Amino acid sequence: MKILLSADDIQRRVAEMARQIADDYRGQPVTIVGVLTGCLMFLADIVRHLDLPLRIALLQASSYRGEATAPGELRIQAERLPDLRGRHVLLLDDILDTGQTLAELRVYLRNLGVASLRVGVLLRKEGRQKTPVEVDYCGFDIPDAFVVGYGLDFNDEYRHLPYIAILNR
Ligand code: IMP
Ligand code: MG
Repeated sequence: MKILLSADDIQRRVAEMARQIADDYRGQPVTIVGVLTGCLMFLADIVRHLDLPLRIALLQASSYRGEATAPGELRIQAERLPDLRGRHVLLLDDILDTGQTLAELRVYLRNLGVASLRVGVLLRKEGRQKTPVEVDYCGFDIPDAFVVGYGLDFNDEYRHLPYIAILNR
């Protein structure tokens, strides 16, 4: 597989993103809401750089798309979220592709009565967004290819790789 972003590239950028996030929140308490399962590595790495009063919460979002790249209907499983009313929430996901997931999650979280909502993604695919989503923090803009590693999967494989690679199919 062709490596698109090395482990070093990722670590360097994640540290930069954390600095920007810490500057923006200026010591305010933040609840990070990670989107499972893809956020795993990104969330774990970024929070270790964040010197802020922090809570971590997780939800799962899956858009039944199987092997196709066209999104299906989104299923949100958020039973394990704490009460987010009045909290400053930073939603973190692995990748912004069509935008469906983050657009729907944004509405979902707003309806829970959060005090503020920002969105951070490690990757954003160029030329794929169908639902416009403004992200506050973006690690890398990448070309339109299917990528795996550092949390991103194909059929739940490859998530453990410390780098991000283009999957040959
Ligand atoms: P969206 O709703 O189309 O923006 O899709 C977002 C979700 O699709 C991400 O959270 C990923 O789980 C998945 N996804 C999109 N592109 C890729 C990719 O290139 N590799 C692995 N997963 C992807
Ligand atoms: Mg995902």
